[in-house]
Amino acid sequence: MPSPPANGLSAGGLAGETRTVWAVEVRDCTTRELPQVLGLWDAADAEPTVTDDLAGLEALLSFASGSLLVALHDDVVIGTLICGWDGWRAAFYRLAVAPMFRRQGIATALVREGERRLHQWGARRIAVIAVESAPAAVPFWIAAGYVPQTDRSRLVKNLTGRAVADDPDIRAAGRDARPDRGRADRGGWRAE
Ligand SMILES: CC(C)(COP(=O)(O)OP(=O)(O)OC[C@H]1O[C@@H](n2cnc3c(N)ncnc32)[C@H](O)[C@@H]1OP(=O)(O)O)[C@@H](O)C(=O)NCCC(=O)NCCS
Repeated sequence: MPSPPANGLSAGGLAGETRTVWAVEVRDCTTRELPQVLGLWDAADAEPTVTDDLAGLEALLSFASGSLLVALHDDVVIGTLICGWDGWRAAFYRLAVAPMFRRQGIATALVREGERRLHQWGARRIAVIAVESAPAAVPFWIAAGYVPQTDRSRLVKNLTGRAVADDPDIRAAGRDARPDRGRADRGGWRAE
């Protein structure tokens, strides 16, 4: 974990409070940085999911290269945000900031950049799933302007076995087949 920056500023907050302002860059994640992303999710106690591995992240970047944002300090990944866009709805996933960098506006900077690019891609509505057991999650999203939707339930299913994308027969046949065939074979499920 990096030490406080030589170029860090100390900014005044409420009476008697000081906050360190870190020199932070927000940009697209490169494949080289993917192991750091997984390390950060561990360190940030981000709730683990089935897609938290190198293969999952590489698939994400090859599907939509600008969808994983990272915040960096001294070339170290200290924050992440996945921006999902399927042409209809947008969603944010895996917002996480390294513990020692919290409450400095880094998650806010990631979300604002994510909103900017989702809007540019055509999105008009963004959904977020906030982990109820993570103490900062709901307060953060409310502070960022997101409104809890209490009259909906989230339903999920983890898929096991061979993926359609890895099946050479389906891949070969699929190029000229119905465009939604793969989706139907996966029980209507689309990647988060
Ligand atoms: C949630 C998380 C990403 C916030 O990152 P951050 O960089 O500290 O957030 P910011 O500094 O941009 O916070 C912006 C505002 O959100 C709210 N907020 C952030 N953390 C909070 C907390 N622990 N308690 C209450 N409000 C909080 C505050 O209003 C804060 O503004 P303030 O610092 O001026 O009071 C970070 O705590 C984290 O990584 N947590 C673990 C993983 C997680 O829960 N991810 C979200 C899953 S949906």
